[in-house]
Amino acid sequence: MATATPRPLGAFSDLTSELGICFGGDYNPEQWPREVWQEDAELMVGAGVNLVTVGVFSWARLEPSPGDYDFAWLDEVLDLLHAHGIAVDLATPTASPPPWLGILHPETLPVNPDGVRLAAGSRNQFTPASQVYRERALAIATAMAKRYAAHPAVRMWHVGNEFGQIDFGDEAARDFRLWLRERHGTIDALNDAWGTVVWAQRYRDFDEIVPPRRMPYLVNPAQSLDFRRYTSWALQRVFAEQRDAIRAAGAAQPVTTNFMGFEPLTDLWEWADEVDVVADDQYPDHASPTVSSDIALVQDLMRSLGDGRPWVLMEQAISATSWRPHNLPKSAERARLDSLQAVARGADAICFFQWRQARTGAERFHSAMLPHAGADTEVFRTTCALGADMRRLRPVVGGRVAASVALLFDWPSRWAAEEPGRPTERLRTLEQVARWHRALWRRGIAVDLVRPGADLSAYRTVLVPHTYIVETDAAAALRAAVEGGASLVVGPFSGVADGNAGILTGRSPVLLRDLVGVSGEEWVGLPDAPTPLAMESAWEAAPDTAEATVLGERLRADGAEVLARFASGHLAGAPAITRHRVGEGTAWYLGAVVSDDALTAVLDDALDASEVTGVLPDRVLPDGVEAVQRGAALFLLNHGDEPRHLTVPGARRDLLSDADVEGRLELAPGAAMVLIERHAE
Ligand code: GLA
Repeated sequence: MATATPRPLGAFSDLTSELGICFGGDYNPEQWPREVWQEDAELMVGAGVNLVTVGVFSWARLEPSPGDYDFAWLDEVLDLLHAHGIAVDLATPTASPPPWLGILHPETLPVNPDGVRLAAGSRNQFTPASQVYRERALAIATAMAKRYAAHPAVRMWHVGNEFGQIDFGDEAARDFRLWLRERHGTIDALNDAWGTVVWAQRYRDFDEIVPPRRMPYLVNPAQSLDFRRYTSWALQRVFAEQRDAIRAAGAAQPVTTNFMGFEPLTDLWEWADEVDVVADDQYPDHASPTVSSDIALVQDLMRSLGDGRPWVLMEQAISATSWRPHNLPKSAERARLDSLQAVARGADAICFFQWRQARTGAERFHSAMLPHAGADTEVFRTTCALGADMRRLRPVVGGRVAASVALLFDWPSRWAAEEPGRPTERLRTLEQVARWHRALWRRGIAVDLVRPGADLSAYRTVLVPHTYIVETDAAAALRAAVEGGASLVVGPFSGVADGNAGILTGRSPVLLRDLVGVSGEEWVGLPDAPTPLAMESAWEAAPDTAEATVLGERLRADGAEVLARFASGHLAGAPAITRHRVGEGTAWYLGAVVSDDALTAVLDDALDASEVTGVLPDRVLPDGVEAVQRGAALFLLNHGDEPRHLTVPGARRDLLSDADVEGRLELAPGAAMVLIERHAE
């Protein structure tokens, strides 16, 4: 086995300064005989692959029986990859314990809310609360780290896979109680925080508390919120234990795990500082008409989690997935656009699940860079072409996307807002976040996602589509931003609750009402037929017509100008859209989910007031076009089916085609350009 002296703690940027954009995917050599490995390595080199993730699902192969490790095959694989100049992101195989663990220790298996213990034999069969699972996972992670910390192929570590497990069993209950003691201190404080006086839920002792299992009727929303927080924390503990073991073994490479975008079980603001580089898995559904802006939102989240640093697109499909009810393949153009979009929004690694398509197992029909049919295929040609594109993008490595718009999002707010028993179940946090973000995506305006309470001084416009929990730090940061000259737009049903999901009493939004100059007293679900809004003359940029749906709020202007009112229905005559100047800035408030015309009119006002513009002169980009400035490079992507015309400032060169470009240009359907100024070369 090849060895080298350990390097000082490395950063992901060390890897990309050496390799350029990382390009590759999950590699599962344990599924193939040794003869295939050699062919794999050669084909990888030909395709421009420079990074592969190895070991994700190899626990049963590495530890066929408890404590009986077999690393010989992995030594060989790592040496082979290294000999071919391919770097390895080495995974701890802990997402999929071998059946023996569940058989010998059934308590390691998760229990669902109905009390059913899930069987071993698929994957993800562990509970993050299980002491035995954690010890076994740590043992194999430690053994691997000791063995491979100094292996020259290993350039990154990958802990587990897609953390997102939940367990309602007895061990989780005991663990949850310890977490609750830590959070609330005494049982009286917990009773207070959870409002257990309602429905006679008062607990005498922490030992009486269970996870929110299947109950006869609705669960206490505060209990649910705390259990979600606990679950994210327990998963994070599993990650952190293995990461620390890897470091303790002397490994100096960056350690990460693959997030799953807005996945509901992990609060990624809590996780972000735990990883050395943010990594994400993205499987956008191209059957959805809003897919391109929706995935841009996820990518903006990934960049924001890492404070703007480049991130890793750890997994995506090169063509079809196999887990949707109906799986559409991707065209070569689509596969290229998906990858370029991630680079545009800050990714410095473009990887896939997986390198070689599995012949057996549940994912035998999931596409791979190298399909069942072999190298003489369209898909493999797409793989090679992408590898070549990535090499051309070396000048982009390390570049940052500068955003002057912040969009507030956080998991506890989303969790608490979506508990049942509210004015309407039709208001979905993520849907509203995506709608608002889409309006900026269509304008070519970069957006950072920001956690409530974070400093906003770097932003000129701040958007709060739907943040249910607003605490004093978040309110203070919003006020400071507006007083300092920022535009703030707050959407309905924001600032409703405290950190324990208790409703803040008084006219709403309690902590923001002075700032927005408007206050409310009643939230109501709106009828299916949209409620028309009447525009006031004070609103210079009012749309001709606008409507409200889903949810409205009975508001009273307390200093704000009224821009639009409900024209009929339960809220007839009440303000629906308002504007309030405070200090150097302005705050808009939406007292309803308003139609796109009204939303974009408000957002345009807010952007104009704070002088935020897109990266191209067009106010709204042609349909389907995405434009992003990353460092010195201007990315132009045409996601649509029609050719589009754009005017780019200055004389530029396209890194992808090497062509010179100036002034007005045509972007064919599915085409992309990455333009740098000619004099900047
Ligand atoms: C996830 C997993 C992979 C694989 C792919 C298939 O991203 O991490 O192991 O199952 O999905 O889409």
